[in-house]
Amino acid sequence: MSTLETIGIVGAGQMGGGIAHVAALAGYKVLLYDISGESIQKGMATISGNMARQVGAGKLDEALRQKALGRITAAPEMTDLAGADLVIEAATEDETIKRKIYAQLCPQLNPEAILATNTSSISITRLAAQTDRPERFIGIHFMNPVPVMKLVELVRGIATENSTFETAKNFVHSLEKTITVSEDFPAFIVNRILLPMINEAIYTLYEGVGTVEAIDTAMKLGANHPMGPLQLADFIGLDTCLSIMQVLHDGLSDSKYRPCPLLVKYVEAGWLGRKTGRGFYDYRGEHPVPTR
Ligand code: CAA
Repeated sequence: MSTLETIGIVGAGQMGGGIAHVAALAGYKVLLYDISGESIQKGMATISGNMARQVGAGKLDEALRQKALGRITAAPEMTDLAGADLVIEAATEDETIKRKIYAQLCPQLNPEAILATNTSSISITRLAAQTDRPERFIGIHFMNPVPVMKLVELVRGIATENSTFETAKNFVHSLEKTITVSEDFPAFIVNRILLPMINEAIYTLYEGVGTVEAIDTAMKLGANHPMGPLQLADFIGLDTCLSIMQVLHDGLSDSKYRPCPLLVKYVEAGWLGRKTGRGFYDYRGEHPVPTR
């Protein structure tokens, strides 16, 4: 069993909200922080809706949903995270933003508290070095959608102590998720393999080998993937996909990881996928329509 009681989460978006959702259902008190009260409320509403979905599917009892929702408290200031035993940072996949968060957050935390990052690609060792607690810093990488996906990657930085790793492991097990341990190299395991595939699907589109629909249908029915790669890219967020490809390209210095120029173009347009209403598909109507 986990010895943790209170989990602080920085970022109430798709990942932070999902982590809050599963932690509250597992019985933890959750403190949810974001830069605006509005973002926290939006995150809370999404959690409530996703739990209602689980109730509708007969996977959760309404009384348990209410209890779990009651365990999540808005934390509008970083000082509100002072009582957390474990804080999971699930902010945008941007190293500068994460560094700023750690600089503000660390002085507020209990010296014994563990700080984890949900980064999907950035070096845990480098992020840890920006904090006052590299020994109690670890990568806990959840997959999207968190309430559905069974896997969590655990990544130690060079200084991560065994006790930190064990606490993180027990915490993830208490959420009934399966752990895979990755060494601290760019994009870890899942994204080292998944993102080059998505990038290749975008090159396949860019070079005119197939349309959006042809590529997604090919991989859904030809490789039994639950979503086509372009649909999945929109689901992850094209800005996140581009950041991960840049981390792979910079970190491994191999041209096979060069981000597809079409991915860059979509991000520059602000067409970031589902979250902005448009990406490889346009989600603004009743059904998604390919944008190329
Ligand atoms: N919260 C709670 N439940 C959810 C949910 C959420 N956010 N999203 C979906 N569900 C539930 C639905 O309620 C549904 O439950 P029932 O089967 O009980 O009805 C079930 O999940 C399936 O959902 P849907 O019927 O809506 O749709 P689907 O069958 O197409 O499945 C999917 C949706 C689970 C997202 C599926 O398409 C899938 O597995 N896609 C691939 C997801 C994936 O690869 N994720 C990893 C992304 S990479 C990553 O996360 C790493 C990174 O760092 C970038």
